[in-house]
Amino acid sequence: MNKKYVIVLISLGLIAACKPTDDQRPIRLKPNNSQLVAQGQALYKIHCAECHGANLEGQENWKVRDANGFLPAPPHDESGHTWHHSDQMLFEITKYGVQKFAGEDYKSAMPAYADTLTDTEIISVLSYIKNSWPENVRKRQNGFNPQDPDK
Ligand code: HEC
Repeated sequence: MNKKYVIVLISLGLIAACKPTDDQRPIRLKPNNSQLVAQGQALYKIHCAECHGANLEGQENWKVRDANGFLPAPPHDESGHTWHHSDQMLFEITKYGVQKFAGEDYKSAMPAYADTLTDTEIISVLSYIKNSWPENVRKRQNGFNPQDPDK
């Protein structure tokens, strides 16, 4: 075999090995994808609305812990602090639970959805939530994402 040809083949192999796969990329919500947002809205009703409210309004007195030390569910609309987190962090909170960031011992009523929803389903629910935010809030939240502010 021609030496040059071998070198080209080896280089191509190296490029393929270094290219990140889909799940290594930072998670990006897609609030402008209407099909995904519609799927997310349906899933939100089934899985999230009982705590976070049918209209994303959260539970009453959501900033005050109850007698057992649990916080009520916060709103997901712009009055809450959901939009203070990057797309990736919202994904990880939903998939793995708040404990991923607050520590194993943290008491929370927020379930982890790793065994209930697929990654795409989690992205769709959060894309629905993000879709509900006014443009200026979305813009500020995009500022917490590492790159591509328009996504
Ligand atoms: C059983 C009630 C309950 C259900 C159901 C629930 N959550 Fe939560 N969620 C909570 C509570 C309570 C918190 C506050 C976390 C804490 O304890 O500090 C929370 C917090 C969150 C946060 C972090 C918000 C922030 O501002 O930091 C996200 C994101 C979230 N929930 C997403 C979801 C999604 C998406 C669903 C549905 C797939 C869902 N939750 C279903 C109770 C719930």
